[in-house]
Amino acid sequence: METSTDSNTNTNRFVYITATIAALNGLLFGFDTGVISGALLYIKRTFELSPAMQEVVVSATLVGAILGAAVGGRLADRLGRRRLMITGAGVFFVGSLLMGLAPNVPWLVAGRFVVGVAIGVASMAGPLYISEIAPPKIRGSLVSLNQLAVTTGILLAYLVNYAFAGPGGWRWMLGAGVVPAMVLGVGMLFMPESPRWLIERGRNEDARSVLSRTRTDEQIERELRDIRRTEEVEEDGLSTLLQSWVRPALVVGVGLAVLQQITGINTVIYYAPTIFESTGFEASASILATVGVGLVNVTMTIVAVLLIDRVGRRPLLLVGLTGMTLALTGLAAAFVLPGLSGLVGWVAVGSLMLYVGFFAIGMGPVFWLLISEIYPLQVRGSAMGVVTVANWASNLAVSFTFLSLVGAVGQSGTFGLYAGLSVLALLFVYTKVPETKGRSLEAIEADLRDGSSGAYSDATAETVEDAN
Ligand code: BGC
Repeated sequence: METSTDSNTNTNRFVYITATIAALNGLLFGFDTGVISGALLYIKRTFELSPAMQEVVVSATLVGAILGAAVGGRLADRLGRRRLMITGAGVFFVGSLLMGLAPNVPWLVAGRFVVGVAIGVASMAGPLYISEIAPPKIRGSLVSLNQLAVTTGILLAYLVNYAFAGPGGWRWMLGAGVVPAMVLGVGMLFMPESPRWLIERGRNEDARSVLSRTRTDEQIERELRDIRRTEEVEEDGLSTLLQSWVRPALVVGVGLAVLQQITGINTVIYYAPTIFESTGFEASASILATVGVGLVNVTMTIVAVLLIDRVGRRPLLLVGLTGMTLALTGLAAAFVLPGLSGLVGWVAVGSLMLYVGFFAIGMGPVFWLLISEIYPLQVRGSAMGVVTVANWASNLAVSFTFLSLVGAVGQSGTFGLYAGLSVLALLFVYTKVPETKGRSLEAIEADLRDGSSGAYSDATAETVEDAN
């Protein structure tokens, strides 16, 4: 006979396996944004690319991601979360093949763009799906597995770059994306659709059978009742997104999306070796230090996964942003203080590691988690799409301006600017961002609807008794 501990273990196992497969979306996202820095060194020799063409090759993916997030949001609500992810994995597979086999530059740029579309979809679909299948008590950790996969993907990309370094190696670097794409696509065929999307489509029995794999009977009835109640009061999808009661959540999502990027994270993720070289390190030492940055990113994300459901979202954001501000200030100082000339390389390495570490326990995972939690069911996909577009567009703006900004105001001025923007982010989080720890998605939605109560004004909002 199955004891309740056995069934609890099975329940947890099922939900962890599902979340891990879905988190491969994050791995693809991280891998393909990280791999280009190394691949570019060889691509530019194969095709004799001008600096302008190199920029096109790099940014084609970011432009694709903006488009992918824009259509992905609507498709998540129409097609369902699962079908969207399977399609996304297919697009990823095709894009990776196009890049790996590219006979000329237009093919390569087309491949980068196609992969970008898939990344845009993956970046929002992973957190959305995991959030909707997760029991509230462990939702933070489960959704953050996606960000853990993003950082692992970036680290993997740095290592693959190292392994395939050499003429022609770029084809393997870029083509390697087919492997996780296949695992995601095939894996998702065996995973269930999101119970919340099923209810939204009136498929109550299907939803019940999905929930029965992760909840007790009593929890299922309560959860189904809550989800249906949320669903009944809804009006037509898109018009809901524009209504005034949803606005606070849109402000929070778009605000965090922009702030996550304009505090400079991707100048480090994309340009770390360049920054290190400018402080006097040799090329090989710079690459090694970059792998170090990748490791810190993964390690501190693990810390966030372990803490996020215990200490909550706001404390992690506040501590993370305070640390980022201090580290950026240290970095800015390292480039101007007299007497540091011999040490500047080491101060820069230390500050960059601290900066990435503090990003990884706060803004990295918590942004993606919160945007999967704070929107009403009927427009959750579309709203996440809008927010994700804002994130990728800001990413493009920052990556594109970084080198010219350094040219205009120096490294010190640039990192000083990011430090100032981190202070702005700190104020934004302190005044606007709700605590969602331990609450059901339906309770969060009810607070938003009420306008003044619950998570939006009370950071110590009550927790639901859960469903684990
Ligand atoms: C951000 C990415 C960034 C990554 C770094 C993600 O949360 O959205 O832009 O490259 O974290 O770990």
